[in-house]
Amino acid sequence: MENKKRETFSSGLAVFFATLGSAVGLGNIWRFPYITGMNGGGGFLFIYILCILFVGIPIMISEFYIGRKTRANAVGAFRKLNKENFKFIGLMGVLSSFLIMFFYSGVAGWVYSYVFKSLIGKFNGVTPEQANEIFTSTISNYGMAYLWQVIVMVVVSTILIMGVKNGIEKVTKTLMPLLFILIIIMDIRALTLTDSFEGVKFLFKVDFSKVTQASILIALGLAFFKLSIGMGTMITYGSYFTEDNDMPQTAFKVAFSDLLVSLLAGLAIFPAVFSFKMEPAAGPGLLFMTIPLVFSKMPLGRVLLTLFFLLTSFAATTAMISLVEVPVAYLSEEMKIDRKKAVLLTAVIILVFGFLATASIAGGNAIAEIKAFGKNFFDLFDFVSSNILLPLGGLFITIFIGYFIDRDDIVNELSNGGKISNQAILTAFLILIRYISPLLVVIIFLNSLGVFK
Ligand code: PHE
Repeated sequence: MENKKRETFSSGLAVFFATLGSAVGLGNIWRFPYITGMNGGGGFLFIYILCILFVGIPIMISEFYIGRKTRANAVGAFRKLNKENFKFIGLMGVLSSFLIMFFYSGVAGWVYSYVFKSLIGKFNGVTPEQANEIFTSTISNYGMAYLWQVIVMVVVSTILIMGVKNGIEKVTKTLMPLLFILIIIMDIRALTLTDSFEGVKFLFKVDFSKVTQASILIALGLAFFKLSIGMGTMITYGSYFTEDNDMPQTAFKVAFSDLLVSLLAGLAIFPAVFSFKMEPAAGPGLLFMTIPLVFSKMPLGRVLLTLFFLLTSFAATTAMISLVEVPVAYLSEEMKIDRKKAVLLTAVIILVFGFLATASIAGGNAIAEIKAFGKNFFDLFDFVSSNILLPLGGLFITIFIGYFIDRDDIVNELSNGGKISNQAILTAFLILIRYISPLLVVIIFLNSLGVFK
């Protein structure tokens, strides 16, 4: 397998869209708004943006470097660099990918079901109470929710098995801009609701008094989750990059566009939250309870709402493809399992543990009663992956790149053999990755443990 020439993306634009396809997903539309809402708004956003700049982007560039240099999966890449001792970083990534998929596939199921619910007009003229009820019954009826989760995994596996990824990439190229336009329409509608400005203030007014010690680690975790870093996804994608791609620039563009999508989603959701007198800290249901209200009193509302959930489900699906690609590439390239079997095996594991997540968030059953550290399965999978494993994986990557890889080699690869002159950026990168990024991650970890209290 390894001697066969690996495919690469066809152009710089294809690299950008494929990478953005991994980054943009439920993270922007579902997770960013509800987590920002639970952590007090603007102050949290400010810290989140610092995490992207000083930790996220440098790690993304590092992963691109590892991937393109070796043209291998997240575990094999370390072997090819003759750094067998660091293979554990890739293996941790495989584990993170599973943990994220256990709950992500469930939430994607909610989104798929909302496409259907919008289409049949379930949200025509809904009140805030009804929107709330519809969401609660969507998750508490966990048999049905699980069925949607199975459908999600069938779709993802089919795409991976049929190898129509290239087709998907072409589709993403048109659908991503469409999702962008639709969110802007939502923004305009939401910003013209009464009291909408309260929502804008909530999102952008930097107020550190609402930021707790725990929020800082959550902001860091969100940056990792959002940018699909700390677990080898960007190593795997980097391995398909073209030789002439300006990787630092790609990282900037992806991080910036991803942030923009999140902010625009927030600008649709928070004005609605305040206008309809809802609770910004409502939790994982926030998106599902507010968006139907934004569209409900709008011309063509039902069509636009259906289209919105449809495009969101596409964004979720491309993100999941990149998530599942980590274990699949590992199983097929390192363990020599036939690719099709690797996909099926991965999907089955996800569906077995995914059931625990779905049943636990439904409440009112024995599975929901099982708790570790006060968290049910859904929260535990989420917390351990985003707030522990991804930052830890990221920390190891910064140490690996900063201290175990030759500087000249990094400079050479990131400047494409001297073909692009980005000396200032490379110097900044080298300083960040060696000193700043790892230090910040360590400080944030220690802080969340209460060491600086
Ligand atoms: N970045 C994706 C999102 O925000 C989720 C993801 C995480 C994808 C990690 C790949 C790897 O939805």
